[in-house]
Amino acid sequence: MTTGTTGSTLTTQVKCMAFAGRAFMLMASLAMIIGITLTGVGNVYAKGSVKAGAVKARACQVCHGKGGKSTKETYPILAGQHAAYIRKQLRAFRAGTRKDPIMNGMAAPLSDQDIEDVAAFFSSTK
Ligand code: HEC
Repeated sequence: MTTGTTGSTLTTQVKCMAFAGRAFMLMASLAMIIGITLTGVGNVYAKGSVKAGAVKARACQVCHGKGGKSTKETYPILAGQHAAYIRKQLRAFRAGTRKDPIMNGMAAPLSDQDIEDVAAFFSSTK
């Protein structure tokens, strides 16, 4: 009888350890996924520089106004716009999926870093 009890306790212990092991593996993979996602986002979008953007956005301000504060209704206001939105629109203009004769031409020569920088600049102005 004693052996039986010890046996079942042992089985419970083994099962318990197996469960803990699985739980640990699950946590570890979750942490890895979160880690990969975070680094992934960092790699895709290098951080934009407001300072570099101010220089690169000089030509843009001819139409979009100083600091993106457009006063003409033909030109959208970019001042204080979310960087993610500016990035998305500039990438679409560059790819040609958003069509505008002026902006397709303006976005064509921009590098990914240029886009990040001008997006950071316009999102910083109000
Ligand atoms: C010659 C004038 C002109 C210049 C220069 C210009 N833009 Fe534009 N931009 C426009 C016009 C017009 C639109 C509206 C296009 C439309 O109706 O789809 C626009 C739209 C945009 C939009 C989308 C805004 C929104 O709310 O969807 C962004 C972002 C933008 N421009 C960024 C820039 C950047 C960055 C530069 C400089 C590299 C630049 N523009 C230079 C005329 C200009």
